[in-house]
Amino acid sequence: MHIADAEGCELVDGNGKHYLDFSAQLMCSNLGHKNQAVIDAIAEQAQELAYAMPGYATAARAELSQLLLEVLPKNMRKFFFCTGGAEANEAAFKIARMYTGKNKIIARYRSYHGSTSGAIAATGDPRRWAMESAGKLPNVLFGPEAFCYRCPLGHTKATCGTACADYIEHMIVNESDVAAVIVEPIVGTNGVIVPPDEYMPRLRELCTKHNVLLIADEVMTGWGRTGKWFAMEHWGVEPDILVTAKGITSAYVPLGLCATTQAIADYFEDNLFSHGHTYEAHPMTLKPAVATIKEMQRMALVDRAAELAPYMESKLRELEAKHVCIGQVRGKGLFWAVDLVKNRTTKEPFATYSDKINGKPLLVDQIAAKCVADGMTIQAWVSHFVIAPPLIITREQIDFGVALLDKHLVLADEQCIA
Ligand SMILES: Cc1ncc(COP(=O)(O)O)c(C=O)c1O
Repeated sequence: MHIADAEGCELVDGNGKHYLDFSAQLMCSNLGHKNQAVIDAIAEQAQELAYAMPGYATAARAELSQLLLEVLPKNMRKFFFCTGGAEANEAAFKIARMYTGKNKIIARYRSYHGSTSGAIAATGDPRRWAMESAGKLPNVLFGPEAFCYRCPLGHTKATCGTACADYIEHMIVNESDVAAVIVEPIVGTNGVIVPPDEYMPRLRELCTKHNVLLIADEVMTGWGRTGKWFAMEHWGVEPDILVTAKGITSAYVPLGLCATTQAIADYFEDNLFSHGHTYEAHPMTLKPAVATIKEMQRMALVDRAAELAPYMESKLRELEAKHVCIGQVRGKGLFWAVDLVKNRTTKEPFATYSDKINGKPLLVDQIAAKCVADGMTIQAWVSHFVIAPPLIITREQIDFGVALLDKHLVLADEQCIA
């Protein structure tokens, strides 16, 4: 598909056909396309100062840092700027290892943290498999995800306590040498998995107890996506390191951020932070981030995502009630999954992770292709869809997107074992 143009929540292909962008590309075009303020910021920065090496201060860097202090969790005080989520996670792991003097990172199976060797090593999903073992870094362990619909520990929500968090404590105690636990606060590509409310506070408590850093990977969940600036705010939990990218510039230019507490920053006043990139704190990436944050504030987009959430949820619940192929819809803000199953009782999905990696044709891709033919793009992954439109989406556009899913989910209904 050749994309020739895009504006607001719509893409336009080379033939002039319009498509609703129901997943904001890769869950990143949060402001929508062709925002004039961001475009102007890019042009102005190019005129003013296209590049300065990372050792220098720039006006864009100062302005963005000031704004970040306003919108990030209050304990995030110092910033390392790079060019994407994977790079930001690489920085987070190095910082955690240098600061704690420990080596191991605990991640979870249902996770994605990027494709560079450290980030893919901490990725639980099968995109890691091709890199096993020589192509990735050692010293990463995987714990269970907090996925109540398909609990990896076989619990039900009513009886589990916080078993999946408690198991991570068991790992920390028995492994020793654990520097950090990394979590996507709401697991993104792997199913928009919202943890139960007790989970994140418990994880915070046990990390603090064992002197292990908590890294929040808010690459996808940040920037208003879930109805808060950052998803950790839903549970009042402050991480030690926060990693983000994507929505920080609404994807207009490539920027990643690794933010830390003052205590971690202070450590590196006396100890060399042996890390960096030519394009670190690149002015062309920082100024558009300033414009993005100001546009989000001007249009109150974080509140808008929270306000539209009940509407999106009610439309998706109607789908769930109508289509036997839907096992569960779940999400927060403007971040939702429609999880398809062959059988609602057994919760058997239409495809497995192995099917995806082995290139087997997937039903969700077939349905997504039908949606494209009718004028909507949507992200499909293994046996679910990720709905994450630009935060400027209207109710009418939500109706349009959900109506197309309604039309084409019939294909999955027909293959259900009742
Ligand atoms: C949660 C999460 N972390 C990290 C990344 C990697 O970011 P990037 O593709 O910018 O390297 C992604 C990308 O989708 C992501 O969703």
